[in-house]
Order: sequence, then structure tokens, then C-alpha cells
Amino acid sequence: MDHFLYRDGQLHAEDVPVADIVAAVGTPLYIYSTATLTRHYRVFDEALSGLPHLIAYAVKANGNLAVLKTLGDLGAGMDVVSEGEFRRALAAGVPGGRVVFSGVGKTAEEIAFALAHNVRQLNVESFEELELVSQVAVAENRSAPVALRVNPDVDAKTHAKIATGKSENKFGIPIARAREAYARAKALPGIEVIGVDVHIGSQLTDLAPFESAFEKVAELTRLLREDGHDIRRIDLGGGLGIPYRQANEAPPLPFDYGALVKRTVGDLGCEIEIEPGRLIAGNAGILVGRVVYRKQGEGRVFLVLDAAMNDLVRPAMYDAWHDIVPVREPAPGVERAEVDVVGPVCESGDTFARARPLPPLEAGDLVAFRSAGAYGAVMSSEYNGRRLVPEVLVNGDQFAVVRARPSFDEMIARDTIPSWTA
Ligand code: LLP
Repeated sequence: MDHFLYRDGQLHAEDVPVADIVAAVGTPLYIYSTATLTRHYRVFDEALSGLPHLIAYAVKANGNLAVLKTLGDLGAGMDVVSEGEFRRALAAGVPGGRVVFSGVGKTAEEIAFALAHNVRQLNVESFEELELVSQVAVAENRSAPVALRVNPDVDAKTHAKIATGKSENKFGIPIARAREAYARAKALPGIEVIGVDVHIGSQLTDLAPFESAFEKVAELTRLLREDGHDIRRIDLGGGLGIPYRQANEAPPLPFDYGALVKRTVGDLGCEIEIEPGRLIAGNAGILVGRVVYRKQGEGRVFLVLDAAMNDLVRPAMYDAWHDIVPVREPAPGVERAEVDVVGPVCESGDTFARARPLPPLEAGDLVAFRSAGAYGAVMSSEYNGRRLVPEVLVNGDQFAVVRARPSFDEMIARDTIPSWTA
């Protein structure tokens, strides 16, 4: 459930008409809903109730400071994968003690930064990283709290570009070598082994892959304890999918996911961490664009928008589906016709939807892409000399621009022309 609904014939973001925000900010723009973010965080919190837990929101899904502050104020931790994301979490008031640092390529500088900010946990993904963490910790005279990310060789049954738990993926330490890795970790100075971490992929629409991964982690935890390791935390990663097609998709509910967590790892006496990104932010955001042309092509109609693949890359990159709805509510029973919804960027990949049945839309009309709050603005670029898309956060009947659209001058001023040119 989200808070982008029609009221009085107009799409609203909570209590604010989307058209009012557009009048103030222009298009394209992202709009996020505080009530939806809050609700999704609480749903997870309740799903894990009874277990000691931390919901470490995956900053990569939507790293806007206003979003991080909203979630941080509810008690969320943050899962970060770079110093930049770590700094964002800190800037939003989330202390290092609630930050989990994941990622396959942490540099020595990033590890030192994390240790200096009392990071809650480093999720270490390789033997090589383990050695570097130890070296940095010793040099900085600190002890690094470490969980090893194991690769359980489980097929997440999701898009190949976002599956991470198979042995051919670059992520994690093969689970068959986990005991060896933990023994090495224990022997290394500057490392305190505290937990086990796993993350098998994103946009999972079935609980079965989670179940096999979590069972493997439970079994491993028992073995590691026999080996003398003090495993006190289990990080189960993120990945629970959302309904991108509201009409016909119903991925598992956080409540059922929580029950699975309790069933598989709940009796180990560990603190449980999860790292959801998409489920918290995805349906808490829309991208709004305006129709520039309704172009009659050879046997098809193109709706050319002022939003493009540089603003929302998911359809171009993963062939992802986003529901597209007019901002002005269509009359009941109005006939739909198939159109191709495209952006102005100069490649055919700049296509949001092909042969999508939509009610009549003309130049000047506003449309909203639903489920765009996660992996939307964070993946945007300035391709084709387009300005970075702005972001707005709504809370009840208020809204605030939480990232302004830069001016063309600001965008151009970031470049410099070297002195050797004439
Ligand atoms: N933890 C780790 C270690 C991750 O790599 C990810 C996502 C998450 C948590 C959060 O997963 P979520 O709950 O959001 O599924 N750009 C792609 C998704 C990339 C996901 C990468 N890792 C997309 O637009 O579908």
C-alpha cells in the first residue's frame, strides 16, 4: 500500500495534489511520501518483533538525506556500500554505531573512515579484504567488528543483473570455504568476528531462495560456534521484492518473510539484521513527467515525455516494468489505446514502455511512473546534457524540495578547460 491515490479526480501524494508540486518545481521530478516510508519501515519492524533486530535500510536504494533522516528518526540503521553513502548516513544523523558497511570493493581509505566513525559492522566479502581490514585496523590501533558475507550458491530467481548469491557472482566468500575464512579472521590481529552475513539478490518474488540461504546460514552458525567463534549477529541482507504491476503481482509480504526468518534462524539467540532497500523506498516514490509530443509514427503512437532514461534507467537497464498513470484521473470506462512511452534521449533504449494500454494523453498532460522511489533518482545521470532530476518529500499536506534541480550554469561550471587550450 502506498499514499499516491486519486482524490477529486487528481493524483495526490498524501494530501498534496501532484499537480500543485509540479506547478512549484516543474517536471521531471521525483516525489516521495513520508507516510509510505514510515509504514514500510514499521511493517518490517513488526515482522521481526520478538527477535532482537536492526533494520539497516540499504542507502543505495534512495540516499536522499531527507529520506535517510526520516528513517533514521524511526530507529533505522543504514546499510552502506561506499564512503559516500556512509557520509550521507552520518549527515542524516545516523551514528556509525548503526551503520553496516557492505560491498565487495572497500578500499583502505574507506575501511579507515568506517573504523574512525565506530562502524557497527564491516561485512567482509573475501579473504583478501580480511587481510586489508586487519592491516588497517592495526595501523589505526582499532578493532574491526566483522561479519563475513558468505555466498550460499542459491539461485534467487531474479533478473541476472541483480542476482548475487550464485557462485559465479562476484559477491561473498564461498560457503564451502567459510570455516577456513573464519579461522583466518580469528588469527588476524585487529579483527573481532561478530557475525555472519548473506545477501542473495534483489527483487525476489518468492520466499524459497531466502529459505535455502537462511537455512544454510543457520547450519553454518552452529558449525562456527563449534569451532569456537562467538557469532552474535546474523545479517540476512535485503532483497524482498515489490509489486511493480499493481494489477497482477503479489510478492511475499514482510510478515511472511519475518515468519521465515524466525523459523530458520530465530532459535540461535542472535541479533538479526536485515538490509531492505526497495521494499522501503520503492513504492514510496513516483517520477512525474510531462508529455511533450504525442507523435504519430508508422503504425504506432509515441508518447514523448520530458522524463528520460537518465532520470529513471530501470526500464532501459533491466527491462523493468513501471506502472504509468495519468495525473488527472481518467473518466471511468474510458477507452485505452496502446502507445509507446519514450523519453527525448537519443537512443532507442530510452523507452519506458512499449504498446502500453493508456487512456488518451496529449501534449502537456502529466504522467506518473509508480514504484520509482528505489533505484530511481540514485541512478540518474546528466546524459544528453540533462539536469539532474529534483526530488520532493511530502508529509501530510506539506511538501519540501529535498534536492533542487540544478541550474545549467551549475552543471556546466563543474567542468574546467585546461590551460593548454587556446
Ligand atoms: N544489501 C546488499 C548487500 C545489497 O547489495 C542490496 C542491493 C541490498 C541490501 C538491498 O536490496 P533490496 O532490498 O533493495 O532489494 N538497481 C537495481 C537493484 C540493485 C540492488 C543491488 N543490491 C534495480 O533497480 O533493480
